[in-house]
Amino acid sequence: MDIETLLARGFWEPNDVDGVVPPIITSTTFPFKDPETPGRFVYSRSSNPTRSFLERAIAELEGVKFGLAFSSGMAAIFTVMLSIGPCKVVAEEDMYGGTYRLLTKLLPRLGFHVVTADLTNPSEKLFRGAGVVFFETPTNPQLKAIDISAISEMAHEEGALVVVDNTFATPLLQRPVKHGADVVVHSSTKLINGHSDVIGGLVALNDEELAFRMASIRSIAGCSMSPIDSWLTLRGLRTLHLRVQRQCENAAMIAEALDSNSRLESVIYPSLPSYPYATTALKQMSGMGCIVTVRVKGGVDKALSFLKNLKLFTVAVSLGGVESLACHPASTTHKSMPKEYRERIGLTDDMVRLSVGAENPMDLINDLEEALASI
Ligand SMILES: Cc1ncc(COP(=O)(O)O)c(C=O)c1O
Repeated sequence: MDIETLLARGFWEPNDVDGVVPPIITSTTFPFKDPETPGRFVYSRSSNPTRSFLERAIAELEGVKFGLAFSSGMAAIFTVMLSIGPCKVVAEEDMYGGTYRLLTKLLPRLGFHVVTADLTNPSEKLFRGAGVVFFETPTNPQLKAIDISAISEMAHEEGALVVVDNTFATPLLQRPVKHGADVVVHSSTKLINGHSDVIGGLVALNDEELAFRMASIRSIAGCSMSPIDSWLTLRGLRTLHLRVQRQCENAAMIAEALDSNSRLESVIYPSLPSYPYATTALKQMSGMGCIVTVRVKGGVDKALSFLKNLKLFTVAVSLGGVESLACHPASTTHKSMPKEYRERIGLTDDMVRLSVGAENPMDLINDLEEALASI
């Protein structure tokens, strides 16, 4: 069955007791068969039927054997790293600021050695001795497309695991394991849930032993997704294909409309002729996503006044919901990166990240053009 059919039907077989949608099982605990024999579920911090249902769905979507649901994307990434254990981590330098903080501030205190680099152009020696190679593709916020199969090949030669943050693409546009990655992580807060009402994280992988270690750490730390959040995420998933398609179409129209705007220094979107990673993006992605990043002429003051002038786009962090949002990465989502680091990797103060929703595209374009015209 096609994935769109599975999504629309919520991966669910209708029945005469539960109806056409899966139930929410909120119970924190489950009866033992006898005092020494647990049933399939014991305690909801460790496992829960509604969460398990979501976990099967993400595994199916990513085309792998195991799925795990966490209380946030950050909890998912942290648990993945802990399950692998202290080692050399090579990470793409352009990434979500929260992930940068985890990798460069917290993991080193736990014995990890983290190296950041431009993975669109890695040196031969970079992966030597690495235990993990971690990257988002496309990256947040510069939308760099990292070649999953090329990096996986180089990383595997050194015996490193490849962990891909697939938040910006979703499994509908890109399935990293098919291209050689070992572990996929998501902030399901974003497109997967799609309604800006659940913080969550998902992991998908084939390695049973690693999946077991992650589940065990999650159970000990208690960073699992709640049954209600799991259920809401399952509900969001049912329209993933419709939302992603519409949001990608809107984003492409916006990128094209803004590309010739004289108030902008540049527009980053993978379908624009100026996009430098088109070959990689086309090789591994079937759609270009809902994020458009722009640089405003005149620096940070003009970027902030563009944001102030927006009426329809809400100025807020986060992305991927059906409503359009705009933010200033340098002072919000990526504030944890030192200025010199940001400047070196091209994450400039004049940058604005647009998360394009499912509104009418002309309303969105008018809002952006009017806001730019009066900066
Ligand atoms: C690419 C990416 N990965 C991970 C995260 C962290 O996810 P969460 O906010 O659900 O913890 C974010 C958050 O913005 C993100 O953009």
